[in-house]
Amino acid sequence: MVLAQLSPTPADARVLVGHQTHDDAGVFQIDEKTALVQTVDFFTPVVDDPRQYGAISATNALSDVWAMGGTPVTALNLLAIPADQMTAETAAEILNGGAMVMRQFGVSLIGGHSIDDPEPKVGYAVTGLVDPQKIWRNSTAVPGDLLYCTKPIGTGVLIKAIKDGSAQPDWIEAATEMMLEANFAAKNALASIGGPNSCTDITGFGLLGHTWEMAQGSKVTIHLIADRVPILKGAESLALAGAFPQGSIRNRDYVADHLKAPGVSDHLLALLCDAVTSGGLLFTINPDQESRLTSAFSGHHLPLWRIGEVHSGPSAIEITQLS
Ligand code: CO
Ligand code: CO
Repeated sequence: MVLAQLSPTPADARVLVGHQTHDDAGVFQIDEKTALVQTVDFFTPVVDDPRQYGAISATNALSDVWAMGGTPVTALNLLAIPADQMTAETAAEILNGGAMVMRQFGVSLIGGHSIDDPEPKVGYAVTGLVDPQKIWRNSTAVPGDLLYCTKPIGTGVLIKAIKDGSAQPDWIEAATEMMLEANFAAKNALASIGGPNSCTDITGFGLLGHTWEMAQGSKVTIHLIADRVPILKGAESLALAGAFPQGSIRNRDYVADHLKAPGVSDHLLALLCDAVTSGGLLFTINPDQESRLTSAFSGHHLPLWRIGEVHSGPSAIEITQLS
């Protein structure tokens, strides 16, 4: 959102995706067959275990390249640590957790930078490659499309609960497992059916924030069925208690003017705005791809939820709650 304040940059025809459409990554064309996909992301600790924290950060950073239909190839590490409070072993654990994920997906870690900072932060700048003809944008949803997501939401309230010690062990386990799950397999399954009409991943702006960006960029109305959205264990009771982090509350303000949600319960609406870390893909397909999509995902035992559809109409989100 801060990027919206930037003055317009000079038009370069090789910039295929800039910051204007709030897409997952920028895309810069090299030649007819190749474009660079570039993204950066970093955040404060989301779990207590340093190795898992690093691994989640890497998984999340790579996701933006997959969400554009690209293949990540190199990464640079960003690290901010309180040098006087954190041991070198802990810092190494964080970095090793991230490096393990990069290795797993064949991404070369080619450098990085660290600074002294009272609040730890870790992240990555990732570069990927994509065929300029096969870029998956968030701004190309078509009326009639079906809308899907691939992971449950609810990490915002859960991470807050982890930090203040109110999360139950099985909630933490499920949230951690979800954040560590890479979108690589879902991206490949989606590519195997010819790709989506539009795609993004669900992260900091929450399900509704990213859905709004899709509706706005595509100039369509997106209809969501609230009951069909998968929610992590524990998140609903935390939402009922109103235990949302600031980012999630800001997300709700961000989408408020673009939302019609008559009869949707308040805690559920707030949860749909909850900030997500390392969330799943959010994408739309043509209805005639549906059976191939379902078999591609079930064939690889990948979770998939159909949560709505795309209608012609002004850029907006309409939400229905069935039960
Ligand atoms: Co993204
Ligand atoms: Co991002």
